[in-house]
Amino acid sequence: MKKQLHKGLKSFLAVGVAAGLILGAASLAAAGGPIKIRFSHVVAPTTPKGRAADMFARLANERLKGKVEVQVFPNSQLYTDKKVLDALSSGSVEMAAPSTAKFTSWVPQLQLFDLPFMFKNRKVLYQTMDGEVGKKMFKLLGKKNMLGLAMWDNGFKQIGNNIREIRKPEDLAGIKFRIMSSKVLEAQFKIVGANPQVMPFSEVYSALEQGVIDGQENTWSNIYSKKFNEVQKYITETNHGYLGYLVVTNAQFWNHLPTDVRTELENIMKEVTAWIRENAYKINQDMKQKVIEAGKTKVTVLTEAEKEAFRKAFKPVQAQFRDVIGGEFIDAVNALNAKN
Ligand code: LMR
Repeated sequence: MKKQLHKGLKSFLAVGVAAGLILGAASLAAAGGPIKIRFSHVVAPTTPKGRAADMFARLANERLKGKVEVQVFPNSQLYTDKKVLDALSSGSVEMAAPSTAKFTSWVPQLQLFDLPFMFKNRKVLYQTMDGEVGKKMFKLLGKKNMLGLAMWDNGFKQIGNNIREIRKPEDLAGIKFRIMSSKVLEAQFKIVGANPQVMPFSEVYSALEQGVIDGQENTWSNIYSKKFNEVQKYITETNHGYLGYLVVTNAQFWNHLPTDVRTELENIMKEVTAWIRENAYKINQDMKQKVIEAGKTKVTVLTEAEKEAFRKAFKPVQAQFRDVIGGEFIDAVNALNAKN
C-alpha cells in the first residue's frame, strides 16, 4: 500500500508538473498512509549537514507520526551532487541540501557564497542569509519550481594536495584541484595558475588516491569524514571560501502538503537550522583536531600576513563575477563587512 502510494506520488508529480494538474499531497495523505519525504545528500551522517538532516527526520517522524515519514539517504546513496536537483524537479526525491555551488546552472547568483574571502566573519554570513540578499536568492529559486526552506551551515574551506606544502598563492600553480561545479571556484584556482577540475564529491577520495587529481578544497568535517586527509600529504588552513547549503524541496509538492503538516515541518526546519548554526563550527573544529591527531597529513596554519597574500591573490574574482552574481548582492555583503 505504502509502496503504491509512493509510486503514485512520484508519477503524479512528474505528470502534474508537466500538465499543471496537481492532485496534491493533501489528497494522498487523506487516502491513507504517511506522506513519504526522501531527503538525499552526499556527505557522511557525522557532518553538520548529515546530523541536521537526521535531526529533521527524527523530529518530523516523532511529531508527525502517522502523517509523515522522512527518510534520509546520506553519502550519495541516491543521487550524486547536482543530479539531485533534477530528481527534485521530477519528483523522484522530495528534499535535498546541495551546496550553493551546485546551483550554478540554475541560479548563478548563488555563487555569491562561493566568492573567496567574501564574508568577513560568520556574523556577516548570517546577516546576508537572513536579510534582503537571502530573501532575493530564495525568490530566484522559486522561478525554477524549487522552494528554498533554509540555509544550512558547514563552514570555511581548507586546501589540501599531494604536490607541496601551500604557504603562498604561488604555491598553488600547476596543481590539479577538484572543484564543485561553480564558475567562481574555477576562476579562483585559475587566477593563481592552478588547474581546476569539476568532479562529484563521491569521486574525490579515489581520484586523490589514484592521482587523477592532486588536491581539493573542503571543510574539516568533509575532509575528515571522507578520509581525504589519508590521501593528501598537505592541508593548509586557508579559510578562503565558504561552504553552505540550501535546503530545497519541490515547490508544488510542498505547497500541496496539508497545512498542519507543512507548518509543523517548517517549525522543525527552523529548530534544526538554529541547531546547525550553533554546532557546525564546533563540529569542524573537532574534526580538524582529529585530522591533526591522525597524523597522516601535514597541517599548515597560515600567519595573518600569509593569509593576506591569499586575500589579495583571489580578490579580482569578485570583480570578474560582478555581472553574473549581481553587483547589488556583492555591494550588500561588502556593506555588512564594513559594519562588522
Ligand atoms: C562538495 O562537493 O565538496 C560538497 O558540496 C559536499 C557537501 O555537500 O558538503
